[in-house]
Amino acid sequence: MIDASKIDRLLRTARAARGRAYAPYSDFAVGAALLGTSGRIYAGTNIENSSYGLSLCAERTALAQAIVRGERSFRAVAVVADSDDPCTPCGACRHVLSEFQDDLIIVSANLHGAVETRPLKELLPARNNTLKRRRGAS
Ligand code: THU
Repeated sequence: MIDASKIDRLLRTARAARGRAYAPYSDFAVGAALLGTSGRIYAGTNIENSSYGLSLCAERTALAQAIVRGERSFRAVAVVADSDDPCTPCGACRHVLSEFQDDLIIVSANLHGAVETRPLKELLPARNNTLKRRRGAS
């Protein structure tokens, strides 16, 4: 259970990060805020590129910030965009997030106050586990 004030902080962080999106191609700015088990929050925003496939989603830039700072376990991620329905992570981000935390909570929101919370496992029910982690690897 994540308390309402923490969710509120995540949403505020994600909204602020959304304001720093680099999205000149889609004009679809997204903000993310990832809550580590330490209690720290890592912000992310989408960073697009003229070679479309090189664009980075907000969820993955937040995750990169966390990993660089040494945090690898997480409780929740908030995602905010100016969408009709609350914005959920794309399939690729679901998979990348599940690499670190398959019981993550996803808090999806739009700018009109709609918020939906559900487990990542519901959005990615059958994660691909073909590769085994190497024992002793970092
Ligand atoms: N995008 C995200 O950053 N996160 C999402 O959850 C949905 C999509 C970005 C990718 C691309 O820069 C733009 O939104 C349009 O798809």
